[in-house]
Amino acid sequence: MLVLGIETSCDETAAAVVRDGHDVLSNIVLSQVAAHRPYQGVVPEIASRAHVEALMPVLEDALRQANTGWDEIDLLAVTHGPGLASSLLIGVTAARALSMRLNKPLTAVNHLAGHLYSVCLDPAVSDPDTLFPLIVLLVTGGHTMLVRMDSVTDYRLLGQTLDDAVGEALDKGATLMGLGYPGGPEIEKAATGGDPARHAFPRGLRGDRGPAAGGLSRDRCFSFSGLKTALLYLLRDHPDYREGAELAHVAASYQEAAFDALLDRLERTVREEGARHFACVGGVAKNKRLRAKLEEAAARLGVQWHAAPMAYCTDNAAMIAGVAGAVALRGVPPEPVDEVYPNLPVAAAR
Ligand code: KG4
Ligand code: ZN
Repeated sequence: MLVLGIETSCDETAAAVVRDGHDVLSNIVLSQVAAHRPYQGVVPEIASRAHVEALMPVLEDALRQANTGWDEIDLLAVTHGPGLASSLLIGVTAARALSMRLNKPLTAVNHLAGHLYSVCLDPAVSDPDTLFPLIVLLVTGGHTMLVRMDSVTDYRLLGQTLDDAVGEALDKGATLMGLGYPGGPEIEKAATGGDPARHAFPRGLRGDRGPAAGGLSRDRCFSFSGLKTALLYLLRDHPDYREGAELAHVAASYQEAAFDALLDRLERTVREEGARHFACVGGVAKNKRLRAKLEEAAARLGVQWHAAPMAYCTDNAAMIAGVAGAVALRGVPPEPVDEVYPNLPVAAAR
């Protein structure tokens, strides 16, 4: 089964062709980072206009790279949320038009389901069913969650951030440090040679008591707003920390605190859920220091860990086409594409 995936939820215009929910035949991602960089964040108006211009050439590239034609596509899949409304609308409108014109079925995909599934696109994972139950740490610019997956179509939210996403904390922290955008990779670079123990930044929620949003257990939830504030005060008191070796220590200590908070919640959850596997997906999962800490955690816990392949960590359409194919192959009918859902929660892939 050949699925053509379309992803325009934020500032990447992406299309991919994936066979049978596993083999990625093409994966085209046109990043708009340069257009948004002067603003240190995504400008919705710029993003949607860029999607309009880029989407058809990106789709054609995806077909060309996959060495296939429109006729051979069995299913179209498009992200309908969560994301920026005006960006989602471009992908959804194009997908609906293509579906009608080509007379091909079309299914809606939850962007978060795509991120969760990205770990299954690892060529080393030939049968995703061997991974479950799987605890997934999903870390992006917009979301930070712990999800238990019991199958490709069956999962449950266990924990999430109560304020900023970890990627957002890195992006905002980078701005305070005078680094570029997006902040995660900039902080990773600036941290080279820095001492991660030099500055004692706060490690997320203090204490395990008190309510958490949506009936979730507080000790499985995250908070990054205190971390950001601590950085703000440190740099206010020491403006010279924005340069040279001092900057490396600040960057290394800042990302270390963010990752320690992730690891603390993840380890606790893996232990409590009795899972034999955990995974990390999303843009922040590209970070080498985080990957090293995940590796150590897996050894401590005596379980296996998996990361989404680098190319499928940041936003892409292979994860959208992949999950759509895997779900369709399990006999689930397509999800109608009606409108866009900017705040779509993570929910079982139908
Ligand atoms: O998954 P993604 O492309 O988009 C969302 O769905 O949000 O994630 C983007 C986030 C940004 O916050 C970016 O700073 C972060 O991923 N990121 C990284 C790295 N590469 C991207 N964070 C830490 N280290 C990296 N190497
Ligand atoms: Zn994403």
